Amino acid sequence: MDKIKIAIAGIGNCASSLIQGIEYYRDKSENDSIGLMHWDIGGYRPSDIEVVAAFDIDMRKVGKDVSEAIFAPPNCTAVFCSDIPKTGVLVKMGCTLDGFSDHMKDFDEKRTFVPSGQPEATKEGIVKELKDSGAEILLNYLPVGSEQATRFYMDCALDAGVACINNMPVFIASDPEWAVRFEKKGIPIIGDDIKAQLGATITHRTLADLFNKRGVKLERTYQLNTGGNTDFLNMLNRSRLASKKTSKTEAVQSVVAQRLDDDNIHVGPSDYVPWQNDNKVCFLRMEGKLFGDVPMNLELRLSVEDSPNSAGVVIDAIRCCKLALDRGTGGVLYSPSAYFMKHPPRQFTDDQAHKMTSEFIRGERAN
Ligand SMILES: NC(=O)c1ccc[n+]([C@@H]2O[C@H](COP(=O)([O-])OP(=O)(O)OC[C@H]3O[C@@H](n4cnc5c(N)ncnc54)[C@H](O)[C@@H]3O)[C@@H](O)[C@H]2O)c1
Repeated sequence: MDKIKIAIAGIGNCASSLIQGIEYYRDKSENDSIGLMHWDIGGYRPSDIEVVAAFDIDMRKVGKDVSEAIFAPPNCTAVFCSDIPKTGVLVKMGCTLDGFSDHMKDFDEKRTFVPSGQPEATKEGIVKELKDSGAEILLNYLPVGSEQATRFYMDCALDAGVACINNMPVFIASDPEWAVRFEKKGIPIIGDDIKAQLGATITHRTLADLFNKRGVKLERTYQLNTGGNTDFLNMLNRSRLASKKTSKTEAVQSVVAQRLDDDNIHVGPSDYVPWQNDNKVCFLRMEGKLFGDVPMNLELRLSVEDSPNSAGVVIDAIRCCKLALDRGTGGVLYSPSAYFMKHPPRQFTDDQAHKMTSEFIRGERAN
């Protein structure tokens, strides 16, 4: 099979886990590949993915080979594959815009972003790099709240004719105006905001669906999350949080039988605990009523390494996006978006979205 050529904006912890994963599964076979939802998608294996372009703004990453940049501070995720061969792809200076929040300046260098002094990239420069590298799909891994920067890279992708996977919660695939732009150009997009393999969102949604199916009325719920990576540090600036909160809250609201009043649902990133590094802990509570209006409640604590938890899902999203490119399908890929993302343009239960994505992979559904 051809390689799937990807470009990445934001070489943080998630990109590190993804690139480690591509290498980690290279020598595995279907029977010893723990942790993947699919070994093969339309003939493509994880190792068929190749990084051909990368953009960041941190002085410890810009100018480095991607294989080294993924281990540079402040990245702090688990190293499960340390031996990454040189890619020959150097991380290029991106365009900062609102990717770097002012409050990030107040923290130790090993914990925060350190902006590179190199000249900012222009739109023409990024478009040229995307075209010259032969990138087919651009992955967006910018910090939460990077509204302008995300739109900048999405514009570049549209100009370069490159497909997009929007892994973070600036609404692109789920914004009708942006969706139309991808449709008009015949360029596929999957988004928005990656839903981890077994994280807080999928667990909360699955339990909400269980309440529905068992006739339990959900009355109140919260999902509190703590972590110690730059994603959590960045989200200390609550003015950047609006879309993340919407994305995570709607992911739960969309599967409860009756929408909860805003006062009865609280879902979101809650605090930054430095020593947790890339470990994320979720505290979840659901209160409801059983047979005879009798009250019940459920409490759950979930502890996961944040970044590898989403990388396998992205490996599947990349392969689905490549299938769309092979088939000449453009616009929003609704089924993969619903299964892989927290804030897709159309929400379905995870059972339905799984079935639709399987049909998409088999070619029985266009998007
Ligand atoms: N971990 C998960 O499972 C998960 C799930 C859903 C969404 N996400 C989202 O994915 C995104 C990436 O997460 P992460 O943990 O890798 O974050 P991170 O903080 O580790 O990485 C962000 C990277 O972007 C770079 N950057 C900042 N502004 C930039 C710009 N303008 N151009 C290019 N690079 C820029 C930073 O230097 C850094 O390397 C976040 O928005 C996060 O919320 C992650």
